[in-house]
Amino acid sequence: MIIDKILLSENLILQRVQELGQQITNDYCGQSFILICVLKGALVFVADLIRSMDAHPDLDFVQISSYGNKTESSGNIDFLRELTTNIKGQNILVVDDIIDSGLTLYHLNKYLLSKKPSSLRTCVLLSKPDRRKKHVEVDYVGFDIPDEFVVGYGLDFSEKYRGLRSIATLRMA
Ligand code: IMP
Ligand code: MG
Repeated sequence: MIIDKILLSENLILQRVQELGQQITNDYCGQSFILICVLKGALVFVADLIRSMDAHPDLDFVQISSYGNKTESSGNIDFLRELTTNIKGQNILVVDDIIDSGLTLYHLNKYLLSKKPSSLRTCVLLSKPDRRKKHVEVDYVGFDIPDEFVVGYGLDFSEKYRGLRSIATLRMA
């Protein structure tokens, strides 16, 4: 597969990430929070997002094994990397690269809520609304995009293209 067309330019992404950072700063009103980055895809987004905030969240990371083509999961969540922070009584902001079927965030949020945080919000750079199988309340969405596979700015195809500065679609070589 090779890069086909640029869907979101570097400038457009950075401008929107700035807006999200400011909105998150305002919404937390100086309260402390823990930002949970969902690896690996959200890595680049989180790096820019925390630098666009006038807030200083603690950082933690989770990595979840993909739901792949499973439409209904057992309800369990398979962590490749677990939280290292006790989130009980804390304000939590989960940040992922993209919400597609919604399964990842649905199960992750359920798991996090079982740890009794004092609040839980969700932020994604991209959303494909047409693909949703599970409804998830997402508090911050960078861009709604059509049902096309995209890479770049942290998102991969078989671990490739994460370092691309823009977000692009792929086509057969
Ligand atoms: P969901 O569980 O179906 O919502 O999928 C979420 C995960 O699937 C994301 O965190 C991505 O890792 C991956 N994903 C979904 N769509 C894309 C895409 O277009 N490009 C790259 N990764 C994607
Ligand atoms: Mg991901």
